[in-house]
Amino acid sequence: MAENKIIKSKYFFEEEEIEQLAEVSTHQYRPWEKNEKLKVVGKGLPRLDGYDKVSGSAVYTFDVILPRMAHAATLRCPHPHARIKSIDTSEAEKLKGVLGILTHENAPRIEWYGRSFLFDPHLRYEGDEVACVVAESERIARQAVRSIKVEYEILPFVVDAQQALQKNAPQLYEDGNLMRGKPSKYERGDLEKGLQEADVVLERRFDTQVVVHNPTEPHVSVVKWDGDHLTIWDSTQGVFSVRSRVASVLGLPESNVRVIKKYMGGGFGAKLEAGKYTVMAALLAKKIGRPVRIALDRREMNLAVGNRPDSYQTLKAGVKKDGTLTALYLKSIGSAGAYPAGTGCAWPLRSMYACPNVKVEEYSVYINAGRARAYRAPGHVQGFFALEQLIDELAEKVGMDPLEFRLKNYADKEPNWNIPYTTKLLKEAYLKGAKAIGWERRNKTPGEQPGPVKTGIGMSSQIWWGGGGPPAYANLKLNRDGSVQIIAGSQDLGTGTYTILAQVAAEVLDIPVEKIEVILGDTDVAPYCGSSGGSTTAPSVSPAVRDAAEQMKAKLFSAAAAHLGVPESQLKYAGGKFYSAGEKSASLDIGQLARKMGERVLVTTGRREANPEGYAVNTFGVQFAEVEVDTETGKVRVKKIVAAYDLGRVLNRQMLDNQIHGGIIQGLGYALFEERLIDRNIGKLVNANLHDYKIPTIKDTPEIEIYIVSEGDEKLSNTGVKGVGEPAIIPTPAAIANAVYNAIGVRMTSLPMTPDKVLMALQS
Ligand code: MOS
Repeated sequence: MAENKIIKSKYFFEEEEIEQLAEVSTHQYRPWEKNEKLKVVGKGLPRLDGYDKVSGSAVYTFDVILPRMAHAATLRCPHPHARIKSIDTSEAEKLKGVLGILTHENAPRIEWYGRSFLFDPHLRYEGDEVACVVAESERIARQAVRSIKVEYEILPFVVDAQQALQKNAPQLYEDGNLMRGKPSKYERGDLEKGLQEADVVLERRFDTQVVVHNPTEPHVSVVKWDGDHLTIWDSTQGVFSVRSRVASVLGLPESNVRVIKKYMGGGFGAKLEAGKYTVMAALLAKKIGRPVRIALDRREMNLAVGNRPDSYQTLKAGVKKDGTLTALYLKSIGSAGAYPAGTGCAWPLRSMYACPNVKVEEYSVYINAGRARAYRAPGHVQGFFALEQLIDELAEKVGMDPLEFRLKNYADKEPNWNIPYTTKLLKEAYLKGAKAIGWERRNKTPGEQPGPVKTGIGMSSQIWWGGGGPPAYANLKLNRDGSVQIIAGSQDLGTGTYTILAQVAAEVLDIPVEKIEVILGDTDVAPYCGSSGGSTTAPSVSPAVRDAAEQMKAKLFSAAAAHLGVPESQLKYAGGKFYSAGEKSASLDIGQLARKMGERVLVTTGRREANPEGYAVNTFGVQFAEVEVDTETGKVRVKKIVAAYDLGRVLNRQMLDNQIHGGIIQGLGYALFEERLIDRNIGKLVNANLHDYKIPTIKDTPEIEIYIVSEGDEKLSNTGVKGVGEPAIIPTPAAIANAVYNAIGVRMTSLPMTPDKVLMALQS
């Protein structure tokens, strides 16, 4: 303690020392240069949470158990469109172990989706919430759900977007089935003029299906009240967004709501918003004075918490003989589902190529089915499937190699805003990928290979945002034993956020990652970060962590100078230790220094700076697919995918590769098998389970080769990192479709490319 006292007085420096401190405390540091030699960042370190995960000791929201916790389950509408005439819960209430029931008759009228309520007697899809029961066990709750008697007035329904737009289609809302009553439009240049200038004009139609997210961990919340304070454990992509939504619907100050999420089994966009189930659990928990857990089962997830909308796309394009694109047009129709959701897919067409004349009309349509949500690269996956096939066909029409055609129409500037990119290394990615797949091996005349099994090679470009941005903050705490904690209000969806953030701090402080603990996903303890969506987590949060660590280092430098009695210029810092050179050579590690500074815990807060003005920030990439098509069975097998990307700096190569593997496999499922099937006669889902809904397995997984052509985006941020989650999936289905064409000489214009469709296409 005596030591503390002396040190403390020394920490309040004499005049000249204060000036010196002030100079340093502006913590001027430069962004990592693109080819900066870094020790820890970029290394493929295994996950810091790896042991927790593989040993089964990681506690996911699904695993949270609280004393006296009760369980809730939801009664969902069995009809695609109905109105509740009467509801009788008396039998359910009598069941032993039932603690409470919420219906539209006794629940507060909480507005939802702007067009409905938490419990709304007007039910617009199979899966809409009718009642929620809380009981001693989940089994009893589900049993009670089945004992609730509801008399429904069955209403006419429509489950197809194109039918829903027809004149006498059943209406979901009084103002019609077209969302906002009009399409969303975009135009640049003069489409008609562009088409007139063209030597070749093509008009093509492409359809894509609805797919469901299916993360491993179901949607689940555990809620607990302490007086008027509510704690929510939630499997969410955005702890702060759940906090503000729940606080606002329950009329609580945000400070009374705490949202916690440590480990998570995926989200893919389905978990970007607060669920009705969370609010229902909170209301029930309040009612019974006990914590409540609510978990959706696979069927409920497939019905009610989101999907990638379908698309019916008509594209028109004009091109000159020399391969110059003169016009691009897209009309798309997509199913929002029963409540408002965006279904547009025009961004690939608007932003991938330099084309002066572009016109877009996007129709989002209400149908009697589960509502669409953001799903890994919303719009881009379906948009590229159509655009990139059209691009290949245009190239063929003017007698150009598809890759050469893409290079010919390369956008050097962002085509919507005519501004430069911070970086764009797509050309490098194209060439790297083409070399790796052996682009010259592709069939010069598609479909001409002898024998029933034909192979083909195809490609697709990729563009996405993924630059991230403010606000994002991170606190860094240095403890007296030299251990460090990073606390940020971000979250790890299973992507490796814990590890990459530790790597950034380890790099700056030059200490082992093992000395760093990362705390995420707790709105009460962490400063704000945005939701983990749009591939923004790494590019938004890593700069905040670097900033916090640099500030810490600056503080330590001035303190070390004072304590070692030398100017900062004569200090060396390495491995978490300061060394003074010269005769009085001495050293101090950062823990010792923290003690000498009289601090128990030294804290800094870092922030994400704004993105540079006047620049577009995008990720770029390409995937090349090699496929085998059995023309007798119609089966498509993907043999190999080569991926080449410009993603700024790589924080952890192993985790980056994991993301790309996952994206490719998910994209392959979308291309070949996955489809939400609704029986049009009864308006009900027929494959809301993982047996009938086919996702890829290890046997479907191709050989995957990954190349990263970027080093770091110095203009973007102090770490130069861009996101990879969504870029990974975007080009896969289109590359496979183009490879299928290269194999069989017939275009697959409808997804998924199932054997029946392949055989039909071959026959036509
Ligand atoms: Mo994503 S669809 O931004 O989680």
